[in-house]
Amino acid sequence: MPKICLCLTGPTIEKNLEALDRYRKVVDLVELRADFLEPQEMFRIRSFPEKAGLPTILTVRRLQDGGRFDQGEGVRLVIIAKGLAFADQDKRKNFAYVDIEHDLQIPAIQEAARIFGTKVIRSIHCRDGVPANLPELWSSLSSSPFEIPKLAAHARGIEDTERLFRFFGSLETGERIVTGMGDYGFCTRILPERLGSMLVYASATGAGLKPGAPGQLDPDVLRKQYRLGSDDASVDLYGILGSPSVLGSLSPHIHNAGFAELGIDARYLPFPADDLDAFMRLAELLDIKGLSVTVPFKERVLSLLGESAMEVAAIGACNTMVRSKAGWAGYNTDAMGFRSALLHFLGRTELKGLRACIVGAGGAARSVAYTLHGLGVEACVINRSLPKAKRLAEEYGFPWAGMTERAVELIESYNDLIVQTTSVGMEGGQPGDPLDWYQFSGGEALFETIYNPAETVLLKRARDSGCRVTNGHTMLLDQAAAQFRLFTGQDYPDQVQL
Ligand code: ATR
Repeated sequence: MPKICLCLTGPTIEKNLEALDRYRKVVDLVELRADFLEPQEMFRIRSFPEKAGLPTILTVRRLQDGGRFDQGEGVRLVIIAKGLAFADQDKRKNFAYVDIEHDLQIPAIQEAARIFGTKVIRSIHCRDGVPANLPELWSSLSSSPFEIPKLAAHARGIEDTERLFRFFGSLETGERIVTGMGDYGFCTRILPERLGSMLVYASATGAGLKPGAPGQLDPDVLRKQYRLGSDDASVDLYGILGSPSVLGSLSPHIHNAGFAELGIDARYLPFPADDLDAFMRLAELLDIKGLSVTVPFKERVLSLLGESAMEVAAIGACNTMVRSKAGWAGYNTDAMGFRSALLHFLGRTELKGLRACIVGAGGAARSVAYTLHGLGVEACVINRSLPKAKRLAEEYGFPWAGMTERAVELIESYNDLIVQTTSVGMEGGQPGDPLDWYQFSGGEALFETIYNPAETVLLKRARDSGCRVTNGHTMLLDQAAAQFRLFTGQDYPDQVQL
């Protein structure tokens, strides 16, 4: 079972020990990042393992490998050597591991490590992506039976992540450490067992320390939200596919809390993806059982579906994929989530004759148009790209316009309700206000489908003008509950506090 290794990046030994105390119960070992220590503290590291009371990795990471150490190599070797040699040679009090880069071959250090019972982790840091010659590189790293090979590669895209899982998933078990860094490598930090990695590094952010590498998660997130340490290899996997914002998505929190409450052995992860084909290969490899689909893939996944629910074809967008005999079955829970959240927001059970403006013409807008049409609402569509506005609007006989001042007249005659569906203002998306040329009268109701941030620039401006406003939070919860039912066959538990 993979262990959680707390990466300690404090400026002093004391600060690191304080941070460790905060997490002691949820981590298995620690890494002392001596390169983050103040200069005078670097020479006090020898007593650290005894004070920590947990197996400890000593690392003095160089700048070129993503660390902080900027002094000469001679000084670095002295620090490592001092750290290894414990005065009374009591191996229990020594560093359990020392992380040494692949290009550092110093027999005296390797010999000292052996004498003091410290195992060498032989590491390579690939900051420019997963190298093309991964198999050759890995075999050169793993050439000594006395050393543990470690690869930390920055995933430049989801294809890099897929290559990591494909390569390491096919290797025999054995001691090794593998991490994909950065947003696209996020899932490697939740699924170390699928890479055969003996540990996953975590950062003490809850204790105020910086992550030791991009993408490291807090141990509490790993244990509580992703339940690392349960029967990892057999757990069913689910996830949310999107770009660029899924790491800030609330969906993992919602679904994982539901699984935990009902005792379902499953885990739900965010998968930021820049390439749909590469992601789908990864989904096959990991045997992902179900997916939430968000910007910008809701329409693009249609061609992957072997079967789909009636509303998917009617809306022309799919936000839920579930494995079926036909490959993937597609559903759309956005429409149902929007419908219930909208009726709740307006405090009405029917909306016949209401006049509404749909802002945007992407996948989310398609669900909104379908729902409003079904409710008998008279709507118009405005969108940055005119052909897309026209295509969506014509399906329902709605008028349309581009997203410019020229649309003001149209909005003004369809402004009982404005539904904002674009990604403008979303965390991780383009900042700003998609309607900055429109003056609210105060009589409009604004339904902003974005929920992160809770208040977009547009929502704040509408509220300040006296409009009734809501964000996409309730819609998210309602559509997620419907997804949960499709994923598990069970109702989302009421008792979960979100
Ligand atoms: P989703 O499936 O969530 O709706 P999508 O299909 O990619 O995502 O649609 C995104 C919507 O946001 C589209 O209406 C898009 O406008 P275009 O059709 O012109 O691309 C809109 N959008 C994205 N960025 C925008 C921007 N900077 N300004 C205005 N609209 C934008």
